[in-house]
Amino acid sequence: MGKKVTLSVIKADVGGYVGHSSVHPELLSKAEECLAKVKSEGLLIDYYCGHCGDDIALIMTHKEGADSEKIHRFAWETFETVTEVAKELKQYGAGQDLLSDAFSGNLKGMGPGYAEMEFEERKSEPVLIFLADKTEPGAWNMPLYKMFADPFNTAGLIIDPAMHDGFLFEVHDLIEHKKIVFDCPKELYDMLVFIGAPARFTIKFVYRKADKEVVAATSTQRLSLMAGRYVGKDDPVMIVRSQAGLPAVGEVLEPFAFPHTVAGWMRGSHHGPLMPVSVKDATPSRFDGPPRVVCLGFQLAEGKFVGPRDVFDDPSFDRARQMALEVADYLRRHGPFEPHRLPLDELEYTTMPDIMKKLESRFEKVE
Ligand code: F6R
Ligand code: MG
Ligand code: MG
Repeated sequence: MGKKVTLSVIKADVGGYVGHSSVHPELLSKAEECLAKVKSEGLLIDYYCGHCGDDIALIMTHKEGADSEKIHRFAWETFETVTEVAKELKQYGAGQDLLSDAFSGNLKGMGPGYAEMEFEERKSEPVLIFLADKTEPGAWNMPLYKMFADPFNTAGLIIDPAMHDGFLFEVHDLIEHKKIVFDCPKELYDMLVFIGAPARFTIKFVYRKADKEVVAATSTQRLSLMAGRYVGKDDPVMIVRSQAGLPAVGEVLEPFAFPHTVAGWMRGSHHGPLMPVSVKDATPSRFDGPPRVVCLGFQLAEGKFVGPRDVFDDPSFDRARQMALEVADYLRRHGPFEPHRLPLDELEYTTMPDIMKKLESRFEKVE
């Protein structure tokens, strides 16, 4: 076993309480029980069970590396076990994110989302874990761009020599299943062409250019593209390492002082502001939203989680929350009109194909 530790955040919605607004405490305690068992058996160094809205996040450290069959199988089986509790309590959409009947080696394409990274723990290792509900993986594009490429956000890009060379961004095309690495700041303008379209292009990893150290990882998947039908938004997670040659905690958080517009919200079909909230307020209720993000801050100590601090539980984010509420009011007044409702091509797995089919014969050519 090397010196490296792997940090895995694996999430799924296996039942909502009430509707899609939160997770019942009994589901969380069942997940905790499963986590405690494999920790005592030695598979995990440590764990924390997080949640945001109707999603449960298994936050784990171990020595198995990223994409480990053992870890992914454990997460899958845990979500299956928790689904049993969800079924007993008749929770809403019990087992909804488990798209496959059985586990087959890796969670890829199976429903649960995951962000993972393997690294050597530094002298002090502050990590920030973001969990979002009622939105899609592209929601991380703008904050990651600001953290690692925008000197108006991150002063360290100018001031800290360790960051001055810039960062490498691995961007995934979720439709064509391709990836590309952009070298920033040199290729900023090229990269923005793509990441400005977050429904299709998402930032998967960020590396520090000077030493290729992995510094951020996200969950990137499109549930609806996997299932071929509407199955809700993906409610993504993200890991960001911080300080000492990386953006400071405050520079990592600063993008969330602006509640940018993301896709998701009601029926996964509406644009709305991403509101940074404390864990206790991560209960999307108005029009099933607006979309939420929580941030759990930990200091890692030999792979153990010291924390979390509920980072957005801070008055300095009150204005962002207020702005989010104003934007929510403004967008809601558009009702079924764009840009509140998503464009038609984003609604392809909902009612659109059926309605098109029904009306096809009635459409006449305009001369
Ligand atoms: C959004 C979400 C909810 C549901 C909505 C309708 O991701 O999960 O907004 O889409 O509550 O749910 P159903 O169709 O299950 O009644
Ligand atoms: Mg749900
Ligand atoms: Mg959710």
